[in-house]
Amino acid sequence: MPAATMPAAALRSGAVTVISGGLGGLGRIFAEHLALGSGATVVLLGRSDPDAERRFWLEELRGRGASIHHLKADVADPVQTVAAVAEVRRRFGRIDGVLHAAGVVRDGSLLSRTEEDVAAVFGPKALGAVNLDAAIGEAPLDVFVLFSSLAGQAGNRGQAAYAFANRFLDGFADWREEQRRQGRRRGRTLSLSWPLWDGGGIAVTPAARAQLAREAGLAPMSGEDGLRAFEAALASASVRRAVLTGDAARLRAFLDRVGDGAGGIVMAGKRRWPPRPPRPQRPRRRSAPRMSGNGRRRGCAPSSPRR
Ligand SMILES: NC(=O)c1ccc[n+]([C@@H]2O[C@H](COP(=O)([O-])OP(=O)(O)OC[C@H]3O[C@@H](n4cnc5c(N)ncnc54)[C@H](OP(=O)(O)O)[C@@H]3O)[C@@H](O)[C@H]2O)c1
Repeated sequence: MPAATMPAAALRSGAVTVISGGLGGLGRIFAEHLALGSGATVVLLGRSDPDAERRFWLEELRGRGASIHHLKADVADPVQTVAAVAEVRRRFGRIDGVLHAAGVVRDGSLLSRTEEDVAAVFGPKALGAVNLDAAIGEAPLDVFVLFSSLAGQAGNRGQAAYAFANRFLDGFADWREEQRRQGRRRGRTLSLSWPLWDGGGIAVTPAARAQLAREAGLAPMSGEDGLRAFEAALASASVRRAVLTGDAARLRAFLDRVGDGAGGIVMAGKRRWPPRPPRPQRPRRRSAPRMSGNGRRRGCAPSSPRR
């Protein structure tokens, strides 16, 4: 099924959904999915006006019946974020879902990073999450989804600030859930640590891609698999989830080496979706130690003769 027309089941039909970074690679995949798949009213937030290609994309979607809108706002700026949230409520009456996908990468060695480089990366991700959450406040909401990255779990060469900003989102999801339990926030929070997407705007060089495949067994994820993983994550009770595509055994070994768990790791991908249910465990019978041909226990050193 083409990704865009896959039913968007996890958000209520007709939900008013704000996507920060909505004109980016992933923002557009999700905007199409929600606007066409569940009749959502989608409002895209970003600092720039849509260019010709994106204007064409918006018009094409509207021609197919989508209710899709763009508002210029920098989510790193609290005043602009409050104004954007107020404008969405004024025009559409409410906000049901937030997908926080604004992000910027400024890769380079840690020693060469300037304060400005770090701020450029933290601003949209970390401050953006804080500002959007504060602007929504205690108002009714169904979901608040943070687009995090595996870099926050495992780090990545040249991406210290980016890894930290993503890690911040994962912690922020825990914090927001706690606020919700205490009645100070509404709507469940979900931080999704994405792998590399095919068709995402935040791209890596072919060399880095090859290195990820070699060192971790990681393969880029298709839009279709990503949307399925999104739907499954929203249907689950997870607060944080990492989604991976590639060679399952090598990825698990990689995460054991470098990661510290994301509250739930999901393999997405044609061969592994839907995940196989675990086989019922049969009680293990203790078997006698296996003997190799010479009558010795496997793996044991030959016992030395008693003196
Ligand atoms: N693509 C992947 O493979 C991948 C993997 C893991 C995680 N992610 C995460 O998923 C998110 C989306 O990625 P993407 O590939 O769609 O990136 P993208 O194509 O570069 O889009 C990012 C969008 O964020 C907007 N943005 C940046 N700063 C902003 C700000 N201060 N306020 C409002 N909007 C802002 C940008 O538009 P303006 O410049 O016009 O503001 C842009 O449209 C990012 O947070 C990224 O870290 C992506």
